[in-house]
Amino acid sequence: MERPITLGEYIVENQKDFAYAKGELTALLSSIKLAGKVVNEKINKAGLANIIGKLDKENVQGEIQAKLDIIANDVFVDTLRNRGEICGLASEEMESFISFDETINLDSKYVVLIDPLDGSSNIDVNVTVGTIFSIYRRISPVGSPVTLEDFLQPGINQIAAGYLIYGSSTILVYTVGNGVNGFTFNPGVGSFFLSHPNIKFPDTAEIYSVNEGNYEHFPKGIKKFIKWAQLTDNLQNTPLTARYTGSLVADIHRNMLLGGIYLYPQGSLSPNGKLRLLYEANPIAFITEQAGGKAVDGKNRILEILPKELHQRSPLICGSKKLVDRVENFIDKFP
Ligand code: AHG
Ligand code: MN
Ligand code: MN
Ligand code: MN
Repeated sequence: MERPITLGEYIVENQKDFAYAKGELTALLSSIKLAGKVVNEKINKAGLANIIGKLDKENVQGEIQAKLDIIANDVFVDTLRNRGEICGLASEEMESFISFDETINLDSKYVVLIDPLDGSSNIDVNVTVGTIFSIYRRISPVGSPVTLEDFLQPGINQIAAGYLIYGSSTILVYTVGNGVNGFTFNPGVGSFFLSHPNIKFPDTAEIYSVNEGNYEHFPKGIKKFIKWAQLTDNLQNTPLTARYTGSLVADIHRNMLLGGIYLYPQGSLSPNGKLRLLYEANPIAFITEQAGGKAVDGKNRILEILPKELHQRSPLICGSKKLVDRVENFIDKFP
């Protein structure tokens, strides 16, 4: 039997894939791994530790925060601040970005953007949740406090992106722009092991994931696609299977392994969709493209959108290339 490779070993052995400073990025990925383990532990014990449930607070986007939204946010902020590899961080749960200038971190070159707990409405009912992260090289000069422009970069500038999925197993999936790999956490040992090397969308494209409760409010092209997916003369010659958890990470992970498409389009109730461009759409689009898929907002490649604000929303249509192409055809034909 081949010796299992740990995430730590894999990162070090594959440093050649990093475009820039190899040691720093290696250490940063290892800090994200550490924070992920802590969050994983908290999620596993949530029902016992009285940390399920909602707070009486909204985040900047008007969402009621779950207790674990804040706990996960604090774990990532504290871990990344203390480890000193990044100079700033922005999060779905914080109104503004943080500059780590009270510490030595100003010498570092990277900023991180996170969705600390994705699918947090699922936490109280024991359904899979996740964490999404995205890493950029700063634009402002090293040694000065970070600025907004360090965070408002198009997704094509991402140095690395990934997610943790806290499901039946906990898996960390990431890319540095040279394919996508997944590592499953072994809680007995406390380490992640390579379990999903070189993930690619399969040729079959059997699943569609969309909140169909919003169907009446979708644009015509999206409605046409959904109806086409349910016919028997589509690409599969059988209706596609509908699967939707309400956790983006879970829906993307499943669709990337089995073949499928995820849609959170704009609609009359949400003109820009719901998902956040910087914390959700961009990292997921980077991973999707690296796995041979495609990610668009209906008109543009997600990774080429120039962000204007930190908490900007974007529609997301993402998954197997032939299904995303099909959606784009319907949008063109039925504007
Ligand atoms: P978050 O929990 O980070 O706020 O993200 C929730 C997102 C995403 O995970 C999911 O795909 C989507 O919201 C579900 O939205 P609906 O409940 O509107 O379908
Ligand atoms: Mn939220
Ligand atoms: Mn989310
Ligand atoms: Mn979240």
